[in-house]
Amino acid sequence: MESKSHWEKVYNTKDPDSVSWYAPHLETSLNLIHQAAADKNAAIIDIGGGEATLVDDLLLGGYKDISVLDISQKAIDVARARIGSEESKVHWYCADITQATLPQNYFDVWHDRAVFHFLTEDEQRMKYVEQVMRSVKHGGHVIVSTFGPEGPEKCSGLDVVRYDAENLHGQFGKTFKLLSSSTEVHKTPMGTTQQFLYCFCRME
Ligand SMILES: C[S@@+](CC[C@H](N)C(=O)[O-])C[C@H]1O[C@@H](n2cnc3c(N)ncnc32)[C@H](O)[C@@H]1O
Repeated sequence: MESKSHWEKVYNTKDPDSVSWYAPHLETSLNLIHQAAADKNAAIIDIGGGEATLVDDLLLGGYKDISVLDISQKAIDVARARIGSEESKVHWYCADITQATLPQNYFDVWHDRAVFHFLTEDEQRMKYVEQVMRSVKHGGHVIVSTFGPEGPEKCSGLDVVRYDAENLHGQFGKTFKLLSSSTEVHKTPMGTTQQFLYCFCRME
């Protein structure tokens, strides 16, 4: 619950475009999701979607089965209000990803930008990977983005774990085939830069 109160406070006190992870559009995420899901009926879940516009862009792109999960109710409320009437097409989950109840063997695409790196304990990471294995279909795709080796050591005042592609892929294990990885430099609204790593995997 400590984590939940932290994130509720963040979203209750900051504007959507003033948080360090803000980007007008998550271009790299969108490109990878398009690669993973040519079919607009693909079931896509954005883990820790926060107030990001990814869900808006997926709706615009014609995707019909979108889910967004976040630990913060405030972030979900802001995203729903921004989307307007289309928000009822999205499945919203307010939950901690390490404890959430998700449909089994259901998702074609699992996307996470900047959540996994907050899991600093082995047990949390194990629970996260179990969630992926339970809820993503065999042959489904997993896109996880964390801070890279040169990224910050903290985000939003919380410790993070930084990864290179080998280490991040290693957290998930052999069931996940690493299709590609890349780093990108994110420019924060404060004018600083942060290195992100993306890993794009298929669950075998
Ligand atoms: C750094 S923000 C990234 C938000 C969004 N993915 C983006 O790229 O703009 C991290 C998000 O993860 C959420 N979060 C943190 N820990 C979580 C957890 N254990 N389960 C679910 N969501 C979590 C936070 O509320 C926040 O919205």
